[in-house]
Amino acid sequence: MNLSHIEHIGIAVKSLELSIPFYEEVFGLKCYNIEEVTEQKVRTAFFRLGDTKIELLEATSPDSPITKFIEKKGEGIHHLAFAVKDISETLHEVEKKGVRLIDDSPRKGAEGLDISFLHPASTFGVLIELCEDNSL
Ligand code: CO
Repeated sequence: MNLSHIEHIGIAVKSLELSIPFYEEVFGLKCYNIEEVTEQKVRTAFFRLGDTKIELLEATSPDSPITKFIEKKGEGIHHLAFAVKDISETLHEVEKKGVRLIDDSPRKGAEGLDISFLHPASTFGVLIELCEDNSL
């Protein structure tokens, strides 16, 4: 297992337009990228904070996972993403340890990174994303 840091924290928001200025004006962070991830039916906005990024997630469709999340829990922290060196190896390892996977194999997430989600039912309620960091 080779986790290096928290790659990003995913935050579900109703509107990027309304929430980006909050991070920019209150905390002085700069949104450096807005990107649509069609497959996940989200638009994402990124800020850097040290080694960690903040990823705001806005639904692009009524059947987006983010729409469902906000209906159930309201806006707020949606997932934690751990930076890992080798995502396939890490997935295999956590599966062997009995963790339920949402993604059996890595797929492309925002910023072109290979990602996989672990099921919150086997992680004490936290949606954990593994995110391959090629610089590790
Ligand atoms: Co993420």
